[in-house]
Amino acid sequence: MQFSQQVEQVQPPPITEVKSWLNGRKFPSDKPLIDLCQAIPNYSPPSELVEHLKQTLDDPLSFKYSPDEGLPEVRKEVSSWYLRRYQAAPKAEQICLTIGASQAFWLAICSICQAGDEVIVQLPAYFDHPMALQALGIKPVFAPFDPADAGLPDNHQIEQLITKRTRAILLVTPSNPTGAVIPHQQIEQLFKIAQKHNIALILDETYNAFIDAPPHKLFGRNDWGENFIHIASFGKTFALTGLRCGALVASKKLIEQALKIQDSMAVCQPRPAQLALEFGCNKLNDWVNENCRMMQKRHDQFRNSFISADHSFELVASGSFFAWIKHPWPQLNSRQAARKLADDANLICLPGEAFGPGLSTYLRLAFGNISDQHINSAVERFRF
Ligand SMILES: Cc1ncc(COP(=O)(O)O)c(C=O)c1O
Repeated sequence: MQFSQQVEQVQPPPITEVKSWLNGRKFPSDKPLIDLCQAIPNYSPPSELVEHLKQTLDDPLSFKYSPDEGLPEVRKEVSSWYLRRYQAAPKAEQICLTIGASQAFWLAICSICQAGDEVIVQLPAYFDHPMALQALGIKPVFAPFDPADAGLPDNHQIEQLITKRTRAILLVTPSNPTGAVIPHQQIEQLFKIAQKHNIALILDETYNAFIDAPPHKLFGRNDWGENFIHIASFGKTFALTGLRCGALVASKKLIEQALKIQDSMAVCQPRPAQLALEFGCNKLNDWVNENCRMMQKRHDQFRNSFISADHSFELVASGSFFAWIKHPWPQLNSRQAARKLADDANLICLPGEAFGPGLSTYLRLAFGNISDQHINSAVERFRF
């Protein structure tokens, strides 16, 4: 049997690789493992949500398929959530519930691109995006990372990269891995660039619940659906990463195309995930806001502690959840530097090169994974 050449050239899942470095290792109680590798909130969903889910499991319907796009009442609740959070909302018919933001991205890309097309991807890129594009034979055209911009894109440079094959500009805001938040005026300009070239602006807003203002005002425009696609992950918002709660938000016309992929790929988001999402959108606004404040405090604490600590790592960019740092070892690439931290400091994080070409001097720290009282001891591990 032969494997797809397109898939063979895709990098292996970076988190799996880093976690494999721990195989067979034991960690002493005075220097336990610190895991800054995978972006998972360090807290659980609130007990009211768990109790609600337990009750839904008594209903045999909870184990059946739903409509491909999700239950109408859940999509309505998600629409109200957007109205509350973005002060303008996509309609229920513009929302397709998906198996995490990951599947929403596949639906978006399969609906607008064919093999040989190009998507402009800002570096550092969330690694699953180029991996998905390459697996589909779509070329990621990387917009370079300039450390002086601390993770923000350069709109002019992005426009210069547009060719006849470009189908989309793809950005993550707030960014994984830099934490940078693109100002909404800059997003408006990017939308206008997408409009001018008749392409899509795709925003992955997986971490939108960890900033205190909506990332943009695009949903307030009557014409947003013509050129905008929004990718949502409620896994981070409601601490439900394992339930795989995401959504594709786009024009009704695009959703109609996406449902052809949805039906053949997954049929629907599992009902328990939908019921949890409905509960979260309806009841957990204050809980989400509280966690947002906590994550911001954690960021302040991490930032202050990292900047003032006596070590040779440089903080290049940071925000809620993430820090993007430069390692001090010119002779090591970022994979080797991350391995050194795993071996010598009992701390795991992701190598910069997982986030695209030319990023071998960087590392990503997901400090949203650890509680406030562990931040200072995590920073201590960078003393070499
Ligand atoms: C930017 C970004 N997009 C998408 C995802 C995947 O989200 P989900 O778990 O909802 O598929 C992640 C997960 O870390 C992410 O950081």
